[in-house]
Amino acid sequence: MCGIVGAVAQRNITPILLEGLRRLEYRGYDSAGIAVLDRGRVGLRRAVGKVAQLEAKLAVDPLNGQLGIAHTRWATHGGVTEANAHPHVSGDRVAVIHNGIIENYEPLKAELQAKGYVFKSETDTEVIAHLVHDNLKQGVGLAEAVREAVRRFTGAYAIVVFDAQAPDRFVVARIASPLVIGLGFGENFVASDVSALLPVTQRFIYMEEGDIAEITREAVYIFGADGHKRERKVHDIAQRPEAAEKGQYRHFMLKEIFEQPEALVATLGGRIANHHVLPESLGPRAAELLGRARNIHIVACGTSYHAGLVAKYWIEELARLPCSVELASEYRYRTVNVPADTLFVTLSQSGETADTLAALRYARHAGYVALLTICNSAQSSMVRESDLVMLTHAGPEIGVASTKAFTTQLLAVLIVAAMLGRYNGLSKEQEAEVVRQLYSAAGTVEKALEMDPAIQKLAELFVEKHHTLFLGRGPMFPVALEGALKLKEISYIHAEGYAAGELKHGPLALIDEDMPVVVVAPNNDLLDKLKSNIQVVRARGGQLFVMADVATGLTDEPGTTVIPMPHADTYIAPIVYTVPLQLLAYHVAVLKGTDVDQPRNLAKSVTVE
Ligand code: F6R
Repeated sequence: MCGIVGAVAQRNITPILLEGLRRLEYRGYDSAGIAVLDRGRVGLRRAVGKVAQLEAKLAVDPLNGQLGIAHTRWATHGGVTEANAHPHVSGDRVAVIHNGIIENYEPLKAELQAKGYVFKSETDTEVIAHLVHDNLKQGVGLAEAVREAVRRFTGAYAIVVFDAQAPDRFVVARIASPLVIGLGFGENFVASDVSALLPVTQRFIYMEEGDIAEITREAVYIFGADGHKRERKVHDIAQRPEAAEKGQYRHFMLKEIFEQPEALVATLGGRIANHHVLPESLGPRAAELLGRARNIHIVACGTSYHAGLVAKYWIEELARLPCSVELASEYRYRTVNVPADTLFVTLSQSGETADTLAALRYARHAGYVALLTICNSAQSSMVRESDLVMLTHAGPEIGVASTKAFTTQLLAVLIVAAMLGRYNGLSKEQEAEVVRQLYSAAGTVEKALEMDPAIQKLAELFVEKHHTLFLGRGPMFPVALEGALKLKEISYIHAEGYAAGELKHGPLALIDEDMPVVVVAPNNDLLDKLKSNIQVVRARGGQLFVMADVATGLTDEPGTTVIPMPHADTYIAPIVYTVPLQLLAYHVAVLKGTDVDQPRNLAKSVTVE
């Protein structure tokens, strides 16, 4: 959510900032801007639209300097206009970029207006620029001016500020929104995530809650909110810059769909030995804490929430423990009753989603046995603030629509369900069967990927549609929800996922010959029930597209197209059946000509409420 990048160097930093913005564009892409200290003055260029629009402006009217900041925006306060794009500047002196929300900006704005500051935008961010400027007028240094300013803010933010009168430094501060400092030789950088800076450095410091840092070419000074110096670890990141590039693929989403077998293998690594799952792979205290759990609360958002819904089926079946799953945006604002010995679990690709992070912090004081985070980002806030961590090793996911992060989450929760089962009566044989299926997941997903040409053809039948229903039963119900979410978010076709048995309680009214209904039908013990649900849709003239295991015996009939699926064992079926639904959404979006990797109005890593 909003991409931030800053640099101080002995060379022209404009190309570094632009490359950083290109790599961060997935975080927000309605406008972009750059401010560079060019011959002693704040040079500002901003453009509505993508980073390419900003580049075009810079080609005509370049900026050249050794200190600068840049931003790609996902609008919160104020429409998508050039005036609202960041950076925001005060008095031709102070330039600011910001990710997050300053909740109390209105009284601050009134106060600054009373002092004569004229606001040129509708954003909350502009108060930061003027407040820092006002503080600087008192004669303090930039770091002090920023510290004084952030003391007055409520909300979540990551900010980067420079002062034209201090040309050798910038100052950064964070509360809740992530920021990482990149260390170079005779040059230093900051960004919202490491991918922005991989072409210039592999050495990073992750800023912690409340940290303020003063960054010059030669040094990085980090302070806590109290003004005392802090030491922070330097991390060497092995990630190759090309991991965040498209390579031979037309879109990141397609690349990431095809990376799933490898991501599943990586996620399984180190979790299993001798046909048993290894609870200790979640941390030194994992065996004790998981062993104590008598209830499970899972909290997440979006696609990660769907992975949580599948987890409920597995945990209740394999570990026989009561499990509830809740949207983080609901959980965080209600009175939660926590039964004794409950394990709290968050699922998150980014580990920075504002609602999930807030839920985790709420849970910290709610009496849980332990907090477990299943996450794809090793250095994220959620990982740092949890007692137990299970990393999904999906690699960077750049496409806004989550794909490989979801299937690796499913694999991870199946492992966790088996771990919990170990303490709750799961027999050695049952555990070994789950392990066998876990091992077969990557190979079966590979076979499902071979369906790509068939799904591409199928997509042609959806392009002109305005609505689609997705149906599944049992653990395939959340897969139907996920199929609908994928289709709606990248193709803008309205889609709903339903538990197939729920159809008759209302949505059946929608069925007519113009309504495509996609059904996920593995060969499991709910098949007969699902077949009845299919009959009900057929009888009402719905256009059925059934992704079915050949062993189900389902065949093409008038109004029904069966798409044969490779055989998937029961537990891994949700992982395998997700693949054709991802491909369907992808190909429909490509045919419709939408922006697949950066669909309208959305952004990756939702770090604001
Ligand atoms: C949809 C999607 C979102 C995210 C949600 C949570 O394709 O990606 O629904 O799943 O914003 O994000 P994380 O998993 O980073 O907490």
